[in-house]
Amino acid sequence: MLFKQQALLRQKLFVLGSLAIGSLLYLVARVGSLDRLQPLCPIDGRFGPRGQDEIPLRALQFKRGLLHEFRKGNATKEQIRLHNLVQQLPKAIIIGVRKGGTRALLEMLNLHPAVVKASQEIHFFDNDENYAKGIEWYRKKMPFSYPHQITIEKSPAYFITEEVPERIYKMNSSIKLLIIVREPTTRAISDYTQVLEGKERKNKTYYKFEKLAIDPNTCEVNTKYKAVRTSIYTKHLERWLKYFPIEQFHIVDGDRLITDPLPELQLVEKFLNLPPRISQYNLYFNATRGFYCLRFNIVFNKCLAGSKGRIHPEVDTSVITKLRKFFHPFNQKFYQITARTFNWP
Ligand code: A3P
Repeated sequence: MLFKQQALLRQKLFVLGSLAIGSLLYLVARVGSLDRLQPLCPIDGRFGPRGQDEIPLRALQFKRGLLHEFRKGNATKEQIRLHNLVQQLPKAIIIGVRKGGTRALLEMLNLHPAVVKASQEIHFFDNDENYAKGIEWYRKKMPFSYPHQITIEKSPAYFITEEVPERIYKMNSSIKLLIIVREPTTRAISDYTQVLEGKERKNKTYYKFEKLAIDPNTCEVNTKYKAVRTSIYTKHLERWLKYFPIEQFHIVDGDRLITDPLPELQLVEKFLNLPPRISQYNLYFNATRGFYCLRFNIVFNKCLAGSKGRIHPEVDTSVITKLRKFFHPFNQKFYQITARTFNWP
């Protein structure tokens, strides 16, 4: 009798154990699809002209090793032909502004099934050494995608680098350009905070923001300070307008992308002529982080890295007021050119 009960118990334990292992394996397989080619969305994951829709995307997503090879550019010609994959030059570039929320914008756009992001900042157009390697080098840096998808890259240094507009124009004069901006003084402090963190890590000496932003001799705003110059958006934009008409730019409100991202993303979808696919489901507020995070599917969520959303140092209010007054006329001009008002103080 006792033996029979023990056998029954062992049988039950075996069934429960198998179920637990099975569920675990399923979860691992789903999360494994993290190294995916195309975002898994709750919405129609396939988009594009009829016929191309037949590509078994979801089946592909589970072939993790194969996709990894594709991303490294190691796919064989046969594999590329079989899956109809290509490395495409970007149809849109997030050209800046540094600390405006460029990473958040790229990651959020990547939720769209027709968008494939270049994960790294490529720095092709702003770095002479890279630029000298030629356009094929740049294309080979792009992720594999299906022909109906669009590739987007972001390198915020493009916005402020003199040579870049002409170089991008030479590649594609009808490319779409995205600029994400934040209130200029906050952006400058965010820029300072990033540099400060790097200096602290290397045990280097650093100055307070106030000392860098204000010229101690004149007590005026120090326009030689890079964090200040980058925030004079209109000066940089005017350089770009020598090559591209204003219609080719879309300005994203980086402050709103933090507090209420969906409407900003919907405006970008429209600008890129993409069907609206990013929904509230894909974005959820994470109270611990204090930011919106991304939801790809029931299993896979992700927040941006900890380096995004740093705590800014306290800055003297008189310096903030001085900076805001300094930026005011440039902001007015920026609103005028872009036909978008941000109500920055
Ligand atoms: P702070 O670190 O000053 O808060 P970039 O990617 O261009 O470097 O911009 C970084 C900024 O993106 C961060 O600046 C942060 O405020 C902003 N950001 C916008 N949306 C975010 C999100 N969902 N998660 C984290 N940071 C976000």
